[in-house]
Amino acid sequence: MNSAGRASEDIAILFYWMSAGAVAIWLIVIGVAVYAIYQPGRHHPRTTKMLVIGGGAVFPTIVLTGLLCVALPMLPELHRPAPPGSLQIHVSGVLWWWRVDYLTADGDTIASANEIRIPVNQPVEFKLNSEDVIHSFWIPSLGGKVDMIPGRQTRLQLYPTRVGTYRGACAEFCGTAHAQMNFDVVVMPVDEFNDWLVGQSASAKQPVELDAIAGQQQFLKYGCSACHTIRGTVAEGKVGPDLTHFGSRISIAAGVLKNNPENLARWITQTHDVKPGADMPEFDSLPEHDLRQMVAYLEQLK
Ligand code: CUA
Repeated sequence: MNSAGRASEDIAILFYWMSAGAVAIWLIVIGVAVYAIYQPGRHHPRTTKMLVIGGGAVFPTIVLTGLLCVALPMLPELHRPAPPGSLQIHVSGVLWWWRVDYLTADGDTIASANEIRIPVNQPVEFKLNSEDVIHSFWIPSLGGKVDMIPGRQTRLQLYPTRVGTYRGACAEFCGTAHAQMNFDVVVMPVDEFNDWLVGQSASAKQPVELDAIAGQQQFLKYGCSACHTIRGTVAEGKVGPDLTHFGSRISIAAGVLKNNPENLARWITQTHDVKPGADMPEFDSLPEHDLRQMVAYLEQLK
């Protein structure tokens, strides 16, 4: 199993113990059945009684008690709150994407979406909730899965142990695009993460290329700012994902498409082919020229 965090390692260990227990029970049951088939007429009442008591009560009690002893000590570890001073990230499930807010030491938040970056070998506390229906937050390689429930905050502590990029997903059926509600998790060396977070707290980069400058005007002209925020500009919509550093993200549309100019153009013009049910209106009649400029603007928001 490809675990890269303490919680998922615990779950992997538990899985192996459960599998071993299941195999042991299976072997005994099949063994007894084979014995019964090939020993016709030799059944003494005492043997039968011993088999029923041994196989039906004593043996399962031993195996299940053993498994319980392995599993119980893991529970407090999985539910323990992160130590004070740990990085805190607030994640909300929204149909069908993820709102991500990093809480800074001075109480501010840094908004992002559909991608989570965390430092390696440090505890991280996720505060989870939902803005509409029940979603579930799951990063198989690191840990989870924890339900995100409207009107209630759930939490999850993770402790990543390996640098890398991992896939996260919604693990609770939540409607049309449930299968397209994914995210990327990047576990980074601590120094790199700190630099990255400082970069994320900054306002959006001002465009310098002519296409990108024109693209910023297209972004406003077509009303994208009604739903999206790009910090440091007049775009302050809160309905959709924050796009301040959109160009630095790995994927588009909650893990559906790799982030590159061709895919972004496809997402803007064929939104509902890419992701049926998505809230974003489809700009299928956007002139090619305007589209190219808008893509140039968004992709340089690193
Ligand atoms: Cu959100 Cu399934």
